[in-house]
Amino acid sequence: MFEEIRFNKIERLPKYVFAEVNELKMAARRAGEDVIDFSMGNPDGPAPKHVVDKLIEAAQKPKNHGYSVSKGIYKLRLAICNWYERRYGVALDPEREAVATMGSKEGYVHLVQAITNPGDVAIVPDPTYPIHSYAFILAGGSVHKMELAFNERYEVDEERFFADLHQALTDTFPRPKYLVVNFPHNPSTATVTPEFYKELVALAKRERFYIISDIAYADLTFDGYRTPSILEVDGAKDVAVESFTLSKSYNMAGWRVGFVVGNERLVGALQKMKSWIDYGMFTPIQVAATVALNGPQECVEEIRKTYEKRRDVLIESFARAGWEIAKPRATMFVWAKIPEPFRAKGSLDFSKRLLTEAKVAVSPGVGFGEGGQEYVRIALIENEKRIRQAARNIKRFLRAYKG
Ligand SMILES: Cc1ncc(COP(=O)(O)O)c(C=O)c1O
Repeated sequence: MFEEIRFNKIERLPKYVFAEVNELKMAARRAGEDVIDFSMGNPDGPAPKHVVDKLIEAAQKPKNHGYSVSKGIYKLRLAICNWYERRYGVALDPEREAVATMGSKEGYVHLVQAITNPGDVAIVPDPTYPIHSYAFILAGGSVHKMELAFNERYEVDEERFFADLHQALTDTFPRPKYLVVNFPHNPSTATVTPEFYKELVALAKRERFYIISDIAYADLTFDGYRTPSILEVDGAKDVAVESFTLSKSYNMAGWRVGFVVGNERLVGALQKMKSWIDYGMFTPIQVAATVALNGPQECVEEIRKTYEKRRDVLIESFARAGWEIAKPRATMFVWAKIPEPFRAKGSLDFSKRLLTEAKVAVSPGVGFGEGGQEYVRIALIENEKRIRQAARNIKRFLRAYKG
């Protein structure tokens, strides 16, 4: 009925590529198969005990049960600003330059809703965390994709990035107003240097565009790599905002706590948008999140080490199984080039084979954009024993093809 009434926004959203692998995974499980699941970026560990304890304590106070503050209670915004000061030496005003969000995804989508006029263009590297581009589609804007090039150590080819960016700024009409960056990068794990942000901020000022930076994986770094923040650059606040989340660093993905800080106009737009849309996170969650940011940080180091160990076990055991993958320096993922005999058929075909023949679920790279066609993303969310089991399954699978 009423087919003539079209839902244009929804129709512009593609079928979720990951759904195909997911359906196969569910079918295999229903048939009693043991599937080793590396397909989701969903942390498998618990939130820190002192944070859970604070949530329980705060939940027992009736005064915390009413509507909260949509931009986040003051104490949480202050904790966010102090986190930036401690970590990056960046001073932020909790009233005008910080907003707490229901996870960084919600913050990002509503920020984009708030600042996008119909037809506005955003530049988004490809591959990408899908919502980084689809938020603009949902907001009535459009996306100019820019291939993300990196070397065998997953370091962004910064020279090429700027050459491509210049090209995109010159060639695209209407002129892009926004650039999205996300380093360490999901899905490719690629990293950048602090100099990258210096050059980027200078360019944004010259060419007049805003930058949205997502550092969800800031804490999950290895081998001495440290995640830079765009806000460390002098004057970055004139052109940039940055988001972070408690989902990964504190195993709090289900709690839905993140934040956006930086440029006052953009933060203000998001604060206003949220004041119309929501009444804020449940106050006890905000109180507990404050404790997570202000309290002891050993729990973050433990989580970081868990991923590092899993990364090492995976790279080593998969190599012994015949699948050589370069070691990422950050994130909770391994961005693995598909072994030669399967590469030409693409990432969806390979992911399906891996699932049905080796009982290992991964995300097809193409789900993150055309630039992911030769890769699969392996999330480090299974324990070391399961990773070794996956390696044994893959060894048998690869051997069968060698004949
Ligand atoms: C790059 C990136 N940004 C944001 C998010 C969303 O995190 P949150 O739980 O804060 O919404 C993810 C989740 O996987 C992510 O990979």
